[in-house]
This record gives sequence, structure tokens and C-alpha cells, in this order.
Amino acid sequence: MDVIIVNCGEIAHLSSGDVTKPISGHKMLDKDSLVYPKGKAILIKDGHISSILDNDAIIDEYIPWYVGGNIINNGYNIVDAGGNAITPGFVDSHNHLVWSGDRSNELSLRQSGNSYSDIAKLGGGIKKTVKKTRTSSFSQLLSKANERLEIAIMHGTTTLEAKSGYGLCNETEEIILKVISSLVENSSCNVFPTWLGAHDFPDEKSRIEYIDELINVQLPNIYENKLAKWVDVFCEPGWFTTEETELIVKESQLLGLKSRLHVDEFIDSGGLTLAAELGSSSGDHVAFSNDESRDLATRAGTMQTFLPGTPYVLGKDIDLPIQRCIDESWTFSIATDFNPNYQSLSMPFIGSLLSHRLNISPLASLVASTRNPATSIYEPAEMRGSLSIGSPADLNIISSSFIDGWCQTPGINPISKTIIDGLVVNSNKCI
Ligand code: NIG
Ligand code: FE
Repeated sequence: MDVIIVNCGEIAHLSSGDVTKPISGHKMLDKDSLVYPKGKAILIKDGHISSILDNDAIIDEYIPWYVGGNIINNGYNIVDAGGNAITPGFVDSHNHLVWSGDRSNELSLRQSGNSYSDIAKLGGGIKKTVKKTRTSSFSQLLSKANERLEIAIMHGTTTLEAKSGYGLCNETEEIILKVISSLVENSSCNVFPTWLGAHDFPDEKSRIEYIDELINVQLPNIYENKLAKWVDVFCEPGWFTTEETELIVKESQLLGLKSRLHVDEFIDSGGLTLAAELGSSSGDHVAFSNDESRDLATRAGTMQTFLPGTPYVLGKDIDLPIQRCIDESWTFSIATDFNPNYQSLSMPFIGSLLSHRLNISPLASLVASTRNPATSIYEPAEMRGSLSIGSPADLNIISSSFIDGWCQTPGINPISKTIIDGLVVNSNKCI
């Protein structure tokens, strides 16, 4: 059924220039080219944005009998935005959605002076989650993942990249990726799978044995069963070296798998440089990457993705050089990094960290949460992330008439309605 959203507040269409490319530099703040003022309506036909015109013009042409409210009539689902602003659906391009267990005890370990690496050495961290995940059934993992995905959608996420990585053996990595495949098939959200077998080293194998398993057992299995679009490696001192990362990515490339990598979270180990040289779709965390690598990544089309939720929960400063990226025209995105340590699925909260803590404009943070990450996920012909005419209708109605309201309610969900592929998927109570 066609949908008409009437009485829109500001609309962040974000459709300037070539919508298959990210926006960088001060163009990310250019309201004139990215936002329509209030007073428009959106016509959605066959799940795609058909037109965005003045409210009265759309009503006169398509629904002259309309007198107000949310109604379904004469083949139209009419949604009254009530003057509230519209954003593209959020694209969470880095998410560890599928795992079991509980590591809430690790906060007090951190507060008594243990680092992330110390906790890993004490038997906590990734390996603790692996133990619990390995003893969970497919249906237990699926039900948990479904619950989490529903929460993400409720917070306006319409595209979500989901990683494996808490199996660290062929059997459980496969189960996790099959859980993700089930979400791909059955959820209204656009879910994309990434194989992160190289998240850590399992206790039962030597380093060399596990890398051999990754390349000769897990990778062929992922490829033959079409279980992932990308390979990811936790490339960080203490986990996978840049040489090991390069080996795994190159082997994956031989089978046509692209990469998105965890790099430079704790120190600059040359991870973002490597990601750019390997032509990775994205290099994520990038807290400590050097300027040259940010420049290289921009030129290579490797999206650097900041994950400010992670330093936030680890009790660290969130002093990410995001304003510098804007000033230097280095392309970047932001994502949640939902994982057992950072248990938030809210992109608006990540936007709040940028806007309230780093003084980044909410509009630039929105571009980094929608159009930019979409370019690291979708092929040009399938592009989403903006409200351009002809693109799939993935959008949010928020609870403010101003676009800037999308990330100004930390701890409270600012989403009033979400539409994916032209279908209303939730209808939250506004604050
Ligand atoms: O991106 N750093 C590696 N992976 C996750 C955290 C994993 C975990 O602690 O379970 C991340 O932050
Ligand atoms: Fe991560």
C-alpha cells in the first residue's frame, strides 16, 4: 500500500550530490543542501520514496478528501507526522548482535584498575562470552538476537551489520552466522552478516593451529554456505597482528569476501593503514589511527568508523578526533559496537555522545549515522541511507520538529515511528 507522510517538520533528506558516495568535510553541516524546512509531505510508492513536495500540493493531488489523523483509506496509509522531523533510517554498521552470557561483573574489575586486556587475562572478556555462547542452542541464540534486533529497530535502526565472533570454532561460528541468516530472511530490518572468527584465540588451540583453522576450515565453510558478506579481524596488539590480519583478509579476498576490520582501538598499530591498503569496506574503532592513515582511508574508500560507546563504558575519555575529520574532509561514520561490554543498541545515544560530548553538530552526526555508513554496506544500485527520490523508504519520524532533536534525549528513545521499505514497523510513544 502507498504511504503518505503528511505534516512533516524538518526533513533530513541528505540527498545532495551522488547519494552512493559519503559526505565529508563541512558539507556535513550544510543544512541548506541536506534538510528541507517544515511543511512538506512524503509520498512512498511500492516501498520507495516517490516525491517530497509541499504538504498541500501532495494532499490536493492524491488525497483531497483527507481531513486529518492517521488513517488507511482509498489505498493510502496516511501517517500524520504532527509537525515532527524526519530522518533517514539509521545504519548501524558495527554490531556484535549474537552472544550469550553476562559480563556485568567486569565494571567493578575495571574500577579496581584492571584494563580490558587485564580482564581478558583474568578469564573475562571475549573468551568468557565464548564459553557461554558455545553452550547455547541455535534457538536460544536466535531468540536473544531477535529481541535485540527489535530494540535496535525501536531506536530507529533500519540497517544493521551483525558479526559472529563469539564461537571461535567452526561449529559455533557457523551457528551464529546461521542465526544472522535467519534474521536476514525474517526481519524487516536490513541485516548484513560479517564473519569474525578472528576475534580472539580459543584456549584449546595454539595460535598457529587456530589461524590454520580460520583459513582452511572456517573460511571455506563460510564461503560454501554463503554465510557472510565480510570478514572481520580484531587487529590489535594482544590479539591479531597486522601480518595475521593481512593473511586472513587476503585469503578471504581470494574467495570474493570483502573486509571490515577492528583497528587501532588501543594504540596506533598501523591497522587503518592496512585496512586502506587492503581496500577494506571499513576500518572500525580508529581511536588512535594516525592522520596519514585517515587520509589514505578516505582516498581508498575505506570508511573509518568511530565507536564512542566503547571508550564510554570502559571509563576512558571520548576524545576522538571527529571535528578534525570534518575539518580535514576525512570520511567517517559512527556505529554502536553493541557487545557484552557495551550493551546499547541506540544510534541516537551514539549521536548524543558526539553532539553533547564532542561538540559535533547533530546534522553531521546524523550523516555519519545514515548516508555515510550505508556507502560502506550497500552496492551503489541498492543504496540506502538518504531520502532521495527512488530510494527504498527507510526513515524515522522523531519526537521533535527539529532534525537536531534526533540525538538530544540520552536514555530516552526519540523515535516515534520507523518505516522500512515503505512499511511502518513500529509506533513508539513519543516523549
Ligand atoms: O569491538 N574489541 C573487540 N570486540 C568488541 C568487544 C568485544 C568484547 O569485549 O566482547 C569491540 O569493542
Ligand atoms: Fe566491535
